[in-house]
Amino acid sequence: MVKTNVERLEGELNEVYNEFTTPCDYEINLTFTESDGTFNYLIECENQTKKYSYAINYANEIEKKRYLKRYAKLSLYEYLSKKFEVELPWGALTGIRPTKLYYQQGEDREHFLKEIMKVSAKKYDILHNIAEAQSKYYEVSERNTALYIGVPFCPTRCSYCSFISCEIGKLTCVDEYIDALCTEIRHAKTLIKNLRSVYIGGGTPISPSIDNIRKILDAVGDVDCEYTVEAGRPDCINAEVLQLLKDYGVKRVCVNPQTFCDDTLKLMGRNHTAQEAIDKYHLAKSFGFKVNMDLIAGLPLETFETFVNSFETAFNLRPENITVHTLALKKGSKLKELCSRLPEGEISRMIDYSSKRMAESDYRPYYLYRQKYMAGNLENTGYSLPGEECIYNIDVMEEIAQNIACGANAISKRIYPSENRIERLAAPKDVVTYINKLEKLMKDKEELFKLEE
Ligand SMILES: C[S@@+](CC[C@H](N)C(=O)[O-])C[C@H]1O[C@@H](n2cnc3c(N)ncnc32)[C@H](O)[C@@H]1O
Ligand code: SF4
Repeated sequence: MVKTNVERLEGELNEVYNEFTTPCDYEINLTFTESDGTFNYLIECENQTKKYSYAINYANEIEKKRYLKRYAKLSLYEYLSKKFEVELPWGALTGIRPTKLYYQQGEDREHFLKEIMKVSAKKYDILHNIAEAQSKYYEVSERNTALYIGVPFCPTRCSYCSFISCEIGKLTCVDEYIDALCTEIRHAKTLIKNLRSVYIGGGTPISPSIDNIRKILDAVGDVDCEYTVEAGRPDCINAEVLQLLKDYGVKRVCVNPQTFCDDTLKLMGRNHTAQEAIDKYHLAKSFGFKVNMDLIAGLPLETFETFVNSFETAFNLRPENITVHTLALKKGSKLKELCSRLPEGEISRMIDYSSKRMAESDYRPYYLYRQKYMAGNLENTGYSLPGEECIYNIDVMEEIAQNIACGANAISKRIYPSENRIERLAAPKDVVTYINKLEKLMKDKEELFKLEE
């Protein structure tokens, strides 16, 4: 555990610390002082002290805070890297969006990421390739908007999952939720000038009844842009629901195997087999959908070989998109209670294997994000066949188009590009609270997104 005299920095320092060691192994104190344009960080641990100093020029207090935080993380990283004799793939970087830093640093990016933040050459190259894949989507016109719709229900709860999603069979308020959601979607549409993408996600958005799914699609109405439904669980996908999505103009669906190992699927509480994921992929294709497949590297009891088999199965099916996640042991998941640390070297091999195989093929990485409690300081990467990138995923990660989000726990974002500023509005997480607070939520949203002439 790391303690520091710098306000609001402990969280991020502990993120760096947790990348190296099981929480609570060591007591570390980091003390910051400034003298003559030099930032000094004194690190104390197990009766030893080490001092790191950096000459820093800053123009104002905001810049000072940014550098203070950056170099505190860096000095802690340098200290721990030496102590444990390991270098991490993402070096001293914390946070969800390394690509944003890549863009922000402009011409200096390679030096900043590799030399200062100690990002490995391999990870830097991935960022570079992603920026290239994103380049044709990166420029967006003013007020371009993504519409997100969240359905926080699932047929069963997977043991690694920490999303707010509830088992649909245990709820009595599903119809009320869908009605509230449709009201919010219709209201949201009045606030949108240029619709760039629609994404219905979850949870498992096709877990409600066919009538309820139809109500949501009706509320969205005609869509003349990218339209994705994160159908997700193969056990919920059938011809009737696919026909309905097709009739309403949906273009991409997710058919998520996670793994093609039946034993793991059973252990994780997913009510489908590997064969069912393959069958539902072919079914979705027979309706003409583009398909994304999600995989997770590092699921319990899986070896490198298990992952390779899952990866190759998805790869050989050639869906338009494959997203390779690294298992994160998240608070709020059943798995977190059962497991404390993951076999990191093995997971690193899995992720390296997937990126190497993709690099040898025509798939390209097009978006990337990192999460807390992720194994081995790794990442989640979305791959795409040429021209098949999911614009919604890029927009969410790079925060380039604003997002009007509907549903419990949905976070709307208004982007002010010229001011380099984002304003957020979060809906209540709890489904019943969401239903009860809908009127107020819609008023706040109207305020945030009001259309100026
Ligand atoms: C929002 S979830 C919804 C997907 C859909 N409900 C399903 O399970 O097929 C999106 C993806 O995040 C990934 N995911 C969820 N929990 C994870 C965890 N703890 N670690 C790594 N990836 C995770 C899974 O690959 C999942 O498909
Ligand atoms: S992983 Fe998907 S299906 Fe499983 S509980 Fe989470 S959201 Fe639901």
